[in-house]
Amino acid sequence: MTDAGTTDVNAKFTPRVFSGIKPSGGLTLGIYLCAIRRFVDMQGGDFETIYCVVDLHAITVWQDPSELRNATREVAAGFIASGIDPEKSVLFNQSQVSQHAELGWLFNCVARVGWMNRMTQFKDKAGSNAEKVSLGLYAYPSLMAADILLYHATHVPVGEDQKQHVELTRDIAQKFNHDYKVDFFPETQPVIEGPATRVMNLRDGTKKMSKSGESDMERINMTDDADLIAKKFKKAKTDPEALPDTLDGLKDRPEARNLVDIYAALNDMTPEAVITEYAGAGWGRFKPALADLAVAKLAPISTEMGRLMTETAELDRILARGAERARDIAQPVLQQAYDIVGFVR
Ligand code: TYM
Repeated sequence: MTDAGTTDVNAKFTPRVFSGIKPSGGLTLGIYLCAIRRFVDMQGGDFETIYCVVDLHAITVWQDPSELRNATREVAAGFIASGIDPEKSVLFNQSQVSQHAELGWLFNCVARVGWMNRMTQFKDKAGSNAEKVSLGLYAYPSLMAADILLYHATHVPVGEDQKQHVELTRDIAQKFNHDYKVDFFPETQPVIEGPATRVMNLRDGTKKMSKSGESDMERINMTDDADLIAKKFKKAKTDPEALPDTLDGLKDRPEARNLVDIYAALNDMTPEAVITEYAGAGWGRFKPALADLAVAKLAPISTEMGRLMTETAELDRILARGAERARDIAQPVLQQAYDIVGFVR
């Protein structure tokens, strides 16, 4: 389907952004650059913006209850400290809006097992242990489709790793519309843009920077202090070469390319402009500059996150209020879906 075609299909829907972050582990630089910062950019523009701390998704793998509570508040604090205004955007945690789980069940009955079997993230996470993982982990993408379609969201800003899940969301919407002969769900567009759509692991430039990776040295966390950020970049894997004078010169240098992309994203510039500025520079010059930049951008946010985390009652109040607003949008959509399916009520 062409972009123009998709726009037409969605013409009757309110332009609306939905996206979510799992409260498991901490918030990484990848999540900040590719997700949270983009969410802030989209706020107050042409779209209604709905952002969710997806705690139902978090428990697809074991979470200690008190750590889950803490991580849920920390993600909410990360959103707010980065510039999400709970008045301008709807900000809430998923489990407070039961319609997600309800629509998720409908979609479990629309999605096909064969579709789920093709999900690369499930294969990566389950690994050779597929028999032992939770049924929730397998059904995860169908709940994600429900998150999005419950709000008839037209656009979903995500990192590259979530693209397949947003495509599956479109497949589910299309199959639902086709099976019930309706034009009810939109064909949601993934929005994957900017130099940081895939921030890589600092120790292995072929792997994604993830909150669950083995070593903390592989990632920058939004809450790391200045010394730790400097240390992590200093120890980041690179190669002996200096920075080239064109982007092409980074082709087979994934670690070097990653650091350039991170610099570009942090400083709102293109990777080409970074190369122009640092052509010929060695790592002894580039890494400290990158660390200083990261600290300058992240320190005010982590300080504010720390402050917000001392006011948990206020955070909980914000999430509860956001959930009320989310339910106001979600409930009519769910009720219509129930009517379409043929449930008596
Ligand atoms: P999660 O919590 O793993 O990640 C949150 C967002 O951050 C992006 N991201 C990255 N982007 C670039 N480089 C990285 N290293 C990196 N790490 C994380 C992710 O792509 C994501 O956009 N399934 C989702 C949460 C979710 C969701 C949704 C998202 C549930 N329902 C509905 C959008 C719409 C997830 O696990 O994201």
